[in-house]
Amino acid sequence: MAQFHLSVIAGDGIGPEVIAEGIKALNAVGDRFGHRFTYANYLAGGAALDSTGVPLPEATVKGVKDSAALLFGAIGGPKWESLPHHLKPEAGLLKLRKELDAWANLRPAIVFDELVDASTIKPEVLRGTDIMVLRELTGGIYFGQPRGIDGTGPQRRGFNTEVYSEFEIERIVRLAFAIAAGRRKKVCSVDKANVLESSQVWREVATRVGKEFPDIALSHMYVDNAAMQLIRDPKQFDVIVTGNIFGDILSDEASQLTGSIGMLASASVGGPVGFFEPIHGSAPDIVGQKKANPLATIGTVALLLRHGLKLEAEALMVERAIRQTLKDGLRTGDIRQAGCTLVDTSIMGDAVALRIRGMG
Ligand code: IPM
Ligand code: MG
Repeated sequence: MAQFHLSVIAGDGIGPEVIAEGIKALNAVGDRFGHRFTYANYLAGGAALDSTGVPLPEATVKGVKDSAALLFGAIGGPKWESLPHHLKPEAGLLKLRKELDAWANLRPAIVFDELVDASTIKPEVLRGTDIMVLRELTGGIYFGQPRGIDGTGPQRRGFNTEVYSEFEIERIVRLAFAIAAGRRKKVCSVDKANVLESSQVWREVATRVGKEFPDIALSHMYVDNAAMQLIRDPKQFDVIVTGNIFGDILSDEASQLTGSIGMLASASVGGPVGFFEPIHGSAPDIVGQKKANPLATIGTVALLLRHGLKLEAEALMVERAIRQTLKDGLRTGDIRQAGCTLVDTSIMGDAVALRIRGMG
């Protein structure tokens, strides 16, 4: 029996509600495949601020680094919004990404046939869409120096720096090619090279690396055009590789193709311990109402199994169970459809777990 020790940060808002369902899925995988998962819970974000005064306590960083992988819920909420920048819950998340050196963020946006009518976009445009958004996660304007607020009166200003080194670009672009090799062999590198020097270097490096992969088609797109093309004809994309802030924006947009942001999982890798989180955030408007869609977190569990623990058969089983649950007509409110059964967060989680166990 293989044993895996995982760190868990449930976080704020709907984080704890969806993480509970992710754990059900993991335990079902453990039972089915004869693995034992142990969990250690840590604080981050608003929950950490309330009890320790900082958004990322040292004990969390240490505990996570000692685990095989991190399953993360969500952080943030209105209660902590007016805190100074370095004390915001989000600062804790960014610091954790940096601490774990999680420079590559995989955000797959897959339109399931069962949900092709759940999106606001026409089904014929969406059907068959399967995009991997690969977002650089520890560089760019999120971390660039100088940054700050200075001056007074009308001269008071806020400033940030978009900066990318060749090293940072090269490693993420190489990963994009490696991922595309196992998919439809297309990489679209997204930048704003017509305006930004950082993007000019990005494009040069992507082009240079691309020459080493003659069997993969590399294209370049400006980010404004990419935002438009994503909703005009999403099927043209296979792997999209881009910087931190463009990836943040485009991955939210891509999530809407799938019907709901409540469907999108993510994996942040590159460092010694992988970091796995749904992309939807803490959703303060629906906290405690059992409305949250746990499928993003359960999909995240599949990514944790695949990329964090190298358990491919187990990952596929979780993805199959999600698919089967949707085929069987279960829906949370965000993906509700006529003729389907509306269920709450935990019934959805139970249904997927049952199918992982082969009993659904
Ligand atoms: C995301 C989120 C975060 C980000 C926030 C919460 C800091 O939007 O993971 O996409 O901007 O990276
Ligand atoms: Mg985001």
